[in-house]
Amino acid sequence: MTKNETLNSGVTKAVIPAAGLGTRFLPATKATPKEMLPIVDKPAIQYVVEEASASGLQDVLVIIGRNKGNIVDHFDSVPELEIALEKKDDANKLERVRAVSEIADVHMLRQGQPLGLGHAVLCARQHVGDSSFAVLLGDDLIDERDPLLPQMIAEHDKRQATVIALMEVPEESIHLYGCADVETTEDPSVVRVKSLVEKPDAASAPSNLAVIGRYVLRPEIFELLEKQGPGRGGEIQLTDALNTLAESDSDSVGPVYGVLFKGRRYDTGDKADWIKANLRLGVENEDFGAELKDWIRDFASNLES
Ligand code: G1P
Repeated sequence: MTKNETLNSGVTKAVIPAAGLGTRFLPATKATPKEMLPIVDKPAIQYVVEEASASGLQDVLVIIGRNKGNIVDHFDSVPELEIALEKKDDANKLERVRAVSEIADVHMLRQGQPLGLGHAVLCARQHVGDSSFAVLLGDDLIDERDPLLPQMIAEHDKRQATVIALMEVPEESIHLYGCADVETTEDPSVVRVKSLVEKPDAASAPSNLAVIGRYVLRPEIFELLEKQGPGRGGEIQLTDALNTLAESDSDSVGPVYGVLFKGRRYDTGDKADWIKANLRLGVENEDFGAELKDWIRDFASNLES
């Protein structure tokens, strides 16, 4: 399909790859998926599904791998739990439990083999069909007070192009991310992506702009992913397929734009970031936020450097 043949009717579907092994968070993730680790009182992936829904994407496909059965359970209704809460007259908990299965229309698909993020996205092809869609990485949490995806969807609709999210990171951290070489556009919050490289060494990285886990992709990505050979770590990398798009001068597939994100993001697959996310969101909690704030102040003042 060429770009001109696409009558864009808006992005309606979200794909959440959640099939990774979670090795950075072992041993907690030995039997529990990293996406199910709680942030305050909800599993990390619930925030991501809520973000998709709040961005207008009601059709959510989660790509799961081995040992991920409890992600499926979490988004299902549990009649016996609801009956027990009804009997206890616990309306508040009942409402919160019911709400989880009503956030969005959540579908699950298993990625047969862990062949990488690019392959996980390719698994969504049949479900997504011939329209643009969003990808939200299951362990990247964007604070709801700093909405990013709606801006990316608006840029996609305006430019009829692939849009990725970029964030400045310290030079010494760029080897953990996809990294973009960019040029400016008429809009200071949007750049044109010239090329992308997955997890470069600091010395060879073209910038300190890291790809963070939100993408608005056009369906052409599937053809590229199908042809994409293994890249970094022997895995089929989404970054490599996006690089082909970014470097292509053919108007029918490119270009790729990047939205520069300056808000709050937590990598919940990383131990220290997970703790920070719990503290950051914990202090906002209606029930115990004030108590937690006092405790953190007291704790910090007694902390030895
Ligand atoms: C993935 C992507 C990488 C991106 C990162 C964002 O890597 O491959 O390009 O920068 O997510 O979190 P992962 O963290 O899954 O290794």
